[in-house]
Amino acid sequence: MMKTALFSILAAGAAVAAVPATPQSPLGGVSPSPGSYRGGLNKVISESALLSFHRDIVEIASVTGDEHDVGEFIVRFLQEKNFTVTKQTVTPETASQKERFNIYAYPEDQPHPEILLTSHIDTVPPFIPYSLEGADDDGDDSFNRESIAISGRGSVDAKGSVAAQIFAALDTLAEPSSAPALGLLFVVGEETGGDGMKRFSDSPLNTSPPSYHTVIFGEPTELALVSGHKGMLGFDILAHGRAAHSGYPWLGRSAVSAILPVLSRVDQLGDIPAEEGGLPASPKYGKTTVNLGTVNAGVAANVVPATAQANVAVRLAAGTPEEAREIVRQAVRDALTHDDDNVSVDFSHHSEAYPPQDLDTDVDGFQVITVNYGTDVPNLVIHDSPAARVKRYLYGPGSIHVAHGDHEALTVGALEEAVRGYKRLIQAANKN
Ligand SMILES: *[C@@H]1O[C@H](CO)[C@@H](O)[C@H](O)[C@H]1NC(C)=O
Ligand SMILES: *[C@@H]1O[C@H](CO)[C@@H](O)[C@H](O)[C@H]1NC(C)=O
Ligand SMILES: [Zn+2]
Repeated sequence: MMKTALFSILAAGAAVAAVPATPQSPLGGVSPSPGSYRGGLNKVISESALLSFHRDIVEIASVTGDEHDVGEFIVRFLQEKNFTVTKQTVTPETASQKERFNIYAYPEDQPHPEILLTSHIDTVPPFIPYSLEGADDDGDDSFNRESIAISGRGSVDAKGSVAAQIFAALDTLAEPSSAPALGLLFVVGEETGGDGMKRFSDSPLNTSPPSYHTVIFGEPTELALVSGHKGMLGFDILAHGRAAHSGYPWLGRSAVSAILPVLSRVDQLGDIPAEEGGLPASPKYGKTTVNLGTVNAGVAANVVPATAQANVAVRLAAGTPEEAREIVRQAVRDALTHDDDNVSVDFSHHSEAYPPQDLDTDVDGFQVITVNYGTDVPNLVIHDSPAARVKRYLYGPGSIHVAHGDHEALTVGALEEAVRGYKRLIQAANKN
């Protein structure tokens, strides 16, 4: 839905941009700089500290591995706002690696955050430049301020969240008498396995017990509170055979013939009822889903294939990764007509495994949804206890449906609403 809306915004914007500068008809309180539609759009951004900061960090490319420059920019910005900032090195581990670091910040007199706001500063590739389009309703070059679409890589995932969290923190701290102790944590590497969050999680900064009672994760959730996301399990299925001329297949053993029934069985595990050996579903998350992402086998049509390998990703709707591993192992055994030690499952190359992540939603006034994508939530190990359980919220502007695509964009209205949303979450957490 969001995607369609943005496409029409972009199409309308492009048509308008082609029209030569004509007098502006102000709409929605916008009074553009003389003469131009484009000048009007730019003025909306430059007049807002939030929108300007968001523009500045989107304009700095930060595809995973290359987060150094955007990190330095955010550090300087926070220091100018009198935050105490710690740069937590994630790499280099070797001399040839580029410097990458997490940013951990708190107001200078409050070194023990009670509420931690966190998101990530890396993006998926490729870099896409920042641009603006106005939504055009009536064919002239007017636009509605709230509907201006801000495009560019990371504009949604997750620099929209980063900017909104910082400005929500600044607004909250502007009233020092009632402000809780706030911390900011912006990590690298979320898009490729979470090395940044894992580094923070294992570090002395993540104390036991934690100083924080609430963590607010920022990711594109279309301004809804996320009640949880599915778990994750990855593995390989391997088969070994013996090569031979395809005219004399009895002289070899086909690894493809051996793996086929196993792949077929594993492929269906999300649809097979749990009591019949399938992977469990849950009312909250629906079915567990299985994706046979890659299958590689053989060398040529006239050679009996000696090896076959499949790479599988499972999104878990229920249970633990260990339970799911046992179900997968059993499914492989069931699919083989006889004990074949040449077909095996290998979990060792996929250390990233976690159960479904249930999150808190006990703040009024938000729509509540579940999502199917992974986040850094499981990578932050919280050393809390049942008696003092840390609450975790997941919230942010923009839609996941555009986040990794060519048309990553959000609206001015959504970005500004996210600041208000984060402030409401902070205020609710402060009362707990
Ligand atoms: C930062 O602290 C200095 C010294 O106390 C003060 O003059 C300045 O106004 C503060 N800046 C901000 C943005 O709060
Ligand atoms: C497994 O591979 C070995 C070595 O190639 C072979 O001797 C054996 O028969 C194979 N096992 C089965 C069940 O095909
Ligand atoms: Zn993200």
